[in-house]
Amino acid sequence: MFQVDKSTYKLADGHEMPMMGFGTYKLDNPDLMNKTIATAYESGYRMFDTAQYYRNEKMLGDAIRNVANRDDVFIIDKVTEMNQGHDLTINSTDFSLQQLGTDYVDLLLVHWPVAEHFFETWHALEELKKQGKAKSIGVSNFTQSQLELLKTQADEMPVVNQIETHPYLTQQPMIAFDKKMSIVTQAWSPLGRGAVLDNPMLAKMAKHHGKTPAQIILRWDIQRGISIIPKSQTPERIKENTELDFELSDDEMSMLNVMNKFQRTGNEPELVYELGKQY
Ligand SMILES: NC(=O)c1ccc[n+]([C@@H]2O[C@H](COP(=O)([O-])OP(=O)(O)OC[C@H]3O[C@@H](n4cnc5c(N)ncnc54)[C@H](OP(=O)(O)O)[C@@H]3O)[C@@H](O)[C@H]2O)c1
Repeated sequence: MFQVDKSTYKLADGHEMPMMGFGTYKLDNPDLMNKTIATAYESGYRMFDTAQYYRNEKMLGDAIRNVANRDDVFIIDKVTEMNQGHDLTINSTDFSLQQLGTDYVDLLLVHWPVAEHFFETWHALEELKKQGKAKSIGVSNFTQSQLELLKTQADEMPVVNQIETHPYLTQQPMIAFDKKMSIVTQAWSPLGRGAVLDNPMLAKMAKHHGKTPAQIILRWDIQRGISIIPKSQTPERIKENTELDFELSDDEMSMLNVMNKFQRTGNEPELVYELGKQY
């Protein structure tokens, strides 16, 4: 049985992480943030995803404090490309903690792999974990070869890889590889930023279950064993996205798995790795 406030994955480092969280990209004004986070918390979300790049850490920290105790929530933050390298990672994370108004984040991620600072950034995250400033450490947008490369020098491996995945970018080999490495895959843009929601096959499945296309996709993710962080600023959708207590058949799971078109909403991780920044 899936319950947004109770269902968790056990991470390789022993910590528990909610299966489902709430994305905050583009929530960039305090009123909207306060309203949205209050609705999300009321709807049962306990995990909140931000990033230095979103410039909303302070707003998110304030909004969370209005409705919840620190130990009731799981906060994810990410070190942006321009803050990578050893010292900048440490210093920028200290600033992020200040902005969030907390002593620690539950999960700290390298936002995108960057060739120039690849190992230094990871070693800084390992240090931040030792200092208790991050309970768990992980990566985002890492490919199989980047994880293999990281393994050659890492003292400990990431426990989460947050990647773009939705029905038009199913990422089955990447998810299988993460699993082999004991890494939980977390889906960013699980709804393809809306781009997949008008697919006719999804509509048919949704009708059959008396659910919406968004719920079908999010349920598919839970059944394929990955974590999800959909974003919505619409109260009805925030709640709707948590109502995932139904079951897709094996045939329906297979149908979703073959919708892949290698269609990205974000950049190619290999390109960001070379360029050193997203854009
Ligand atoms: N690690 C990374 O590099 C990375 C990159 C991008 C995003 N992320 C994280 O992942 C989170 C989620 O990704 P995302 O925000 O890009 O995209 P998303 O969650 O796939 O889609 C969000 C869009 O879908 C709409 N929506 C949400 N629920 C819906 C529903 N039930 N029915 C119809 N439309 C619905 C939202 O509209 P309304 O808001 O208008 O309701 C919004 O336009 C981000 O917020 C961020 O925290 C991480």
